[in-house]
Amino acid sequence: MADRQAWDLAFDPGTGRRLAPDEVQSGRVLPSSRWPSFFSRVVARLQWDAQAIDLVPDARAWPELADERRKRLTTLLAGFRVAEDAVAEELTPFGEAANNSLVAWVLFLQRRDEHRHALFFDRIAAEVLGLDGATPAERRDAARQHAPAGVLELFEERLPALSVELAAGRTGLDAGIGLYHMVLEGIVLSAGQCALLGDLEDGALPGVREGVERVELDERWHIGFGLRCLIDAQPSPEVIDDVLAEAEDAAAAWGDAVPDDVRESIVPMCRRRLSVAKLLDTRAAS
Ligand SMILES: [Fe+2]
Ligand SMILES: [Fe+2]
Repeated sequence: MADRQAWDLAFDPGTGRRLAPDEVQSGRVLPSSRWPSFFSRVVARLQWDAQAIDLVPDARAWPELADERRKRLTTLLAGFRVAEDAVAEELTPFGEAANNSLVAWVLFLQRRDEHRHALFFDRIAAEVLGLDGATPAERRDAARQHAPAGVLELFEERLPALSVELAAGRTGLDAGIGLYHMVLEGIVLSAGQCALLGDLEDGALPGVREGVERVELDERWHIGFGLRCLIDAQPSPEVIDDVLAEAEDAAAAWGDAVPDDVRESIVPMCRRRLSVAKLLDTRAAS
């Protein structure tokens, strides 16, 4: 590969493990920046296998759940089935737009997580919800019938449109990360995960709950990494204003499937994250 970058010489892309100095070919230098090794450690600790979670007890319990609960859970899980596919697909142009091999490497690790999440929610669609379709693509189509319109609009229209703009160089990485990491992951997916974990607290679907807990841990580092990138990028006041306005609206994307108290607890988090990162101060001062 002619355009090998620093990260694929310094890290094992299969595991995210950082190579020891004696494993690196002579003449190659390990990146000196500390944060890629920080994310490499986090990612190595969080690895899990979406195929290994047992969903048999969940499939058995599913028909016994009350109709209303099954309907709400179907909306949430079908929404994740569509959303995780979309975030896995649409992350690709971000690596190129980063124009920084270390950031591109962390985005590669994130994309690997998103593929794992997509696989896990596809298993739920097939094995627990029993959605129609013999292939993942057919099950994604089936999931669209159950996912809220707001979620479909954000993940299947808004995000792909932004990816196209990013790939063409008409949108900056800061605006891309503002939508992807701060709004979609930080608000919409967080609200959905919180609603699912609250609903499944009683252990009714133990495999689904275990997987969603793991997804939620992965998403924490994705959001942290996005914030780290925004700090480096120092977005314009307009980008920050757009993120805050969009976060407000996006929280309603799930409709009734996310309880009001969950939505109200998640919405302020976007402003809080930007404030902790001192990105609101920059905005006020400009
Ligand atoms: Fe994800
Ligand atoms: Fe993510």
